[in-house]
Amino acid sequence: MPDIKLLNIVGARPQIIKASAISRAISNFYADKITEILVHTGQHYDKELSGVFFDELEIHKPDYNLGVGSARHGRQTSMMITGIEDILLKERPDCVILYGDTNSTLAGALAASKLHFPVIHIEAGLRSFNKNMPEELNRIMSDHSSTLLFAPTNAAFKNLMHEGFRPENAPPYTLDNPKIYLSGDIMYDNTLFFAQLAEKKRAAILNELSVKRDNFILVTIHREVNTDNIVRLEAILTTLKSLSEEFLIKFIMPLHPRTIISLKTRLERLYNELLACKHITIVPPVSFLEMTLLEKTSKFIITDSGGVQKESHFFRKPCLVLRKETEWIELVNNGTAVLVDADPEKIRNEFRRFMNDGSDLEYPGFYGDGKTAEFILKEIMMMF
Ligand code: UD1
Ligand code: UDP
Repeated sequence: MPDIKLLNIVGARPQIIKASAISRAISNFYADKITEILVHTGQHYDKELSGVFFDELEIHKPDYNLGVGSARHGRQTSMMITGIEDILLKERPDCVILYGDTNSTLAGALAASKLHFPVIHIEAGLRSFNKNMPEELNRIMSDHSSTLLFAPTNAAFKNLMHEGFRPENAPPYTLDNPKIYLSGDIMYDNTLFFAQLAEKKRAAILNELSVKRDNFILVTIHREVNTDNIVRLEAILTTLKSLSEEFLIKFIMPLHPRTIISLKTRLERLYNELLACKHITIVPPVSFLEMTLLEKTSKFIITDSGGVQKESHFFRKPCLVLRKETEWIELVNNGTAVLVDADPEKIRNEFRRFMNDGSDLEYPGFYGDGKTAEFILKEIMMMF
């Protein structure tokens, strides 16, 4: 087996978490065969959205941090492309691994494919069929700049086939002859690996937040369509506040900074009411072990996050999804996730339903066997 140099690109919170699954599998199975270089674009820079994951998940510190920070989409993405291109020319890796659908993913895809470095896309093929979402454009363009595409679900694999990718392609794989795989989801690997550790190390978070197991609702909101549209954000939070008062159940809300910024600057009165409400606890983003523990011990989950929707399923919890559509369509078809959009009526009805009963729901294994990272690395090694 040859020695290969693999360059990982991360930038946003979920990508750092995802990269930890690949890093762990490299250490376990290919430590003497793969040299890993980690590039952080700096898209996320607050300790709660970045540094905490490196410490807690024991990932080695980035070899490069481009420090691009926050900016409009074009500006942010272009700064990343410039920085990544320089690093690629210096390091000349054998391949580049990209995760998910953020601007950091897109920048990596464009920089690497134009320089003819093979791109490996993990979480390929997901589609919301809503091109108003920045992530949807990032997904499509990243997939079509990739040589190996690892689809986490059947639906994602089928989406790639509909876009012309052919499962029968034979090696050698290139940008014009790419290979698609149904691989499972590396986030399921992570949940299996970290769930027990979370109990051991961070169960104290329940006391710190004054909640009891199965007796609180976990909420996250960060999607652009909700944070930047004040009508939607107000409708969601006003409805959740009234439900917390009606059911006398605690809502724990680790909110992304962009949600807090919108609340403080554009919905100040509602923000103060939420802070004063004794059933609602707004906290800064929590660490992955804390989040894992909160997901595992919540009654159910309300979110617009992609990752949190799936983790809800991993922990056998129903999920209200604050969006019109989702890429994780199997959850909706299965009835464990419900698209409530920002519609007060839908949120109320589904909330009541899950408060009263959710025991008839089933949680099939849609996301692989928990060894997806190992599978991905084996296939990458076969390419060389
Ligand atoms: C990004 C991804 C989104 C992903 C999310 C994960 C894109 C287009 N979006 O969204 O797909 O679901 O990450 O969390 O790539 N900010 C801070 N501190 C930080 C980073 C950001 O306060 O460390 C604030 C800034 O006001 C910034 C805003 O959050 O303008 C948005 O950050 P950005 O990285 O552009 O997008 P996210 O909403 O984080
Ligand atoms: N997450 C976390 N702390 C939080 C909120 C989320 O560790 O306060 C984790 C969550 O468990 C999941 C990932 O971040 O693994 C999801 O990231 P996010 O919701 O930011 O983005 P998305 O998945 O929607 O792209």
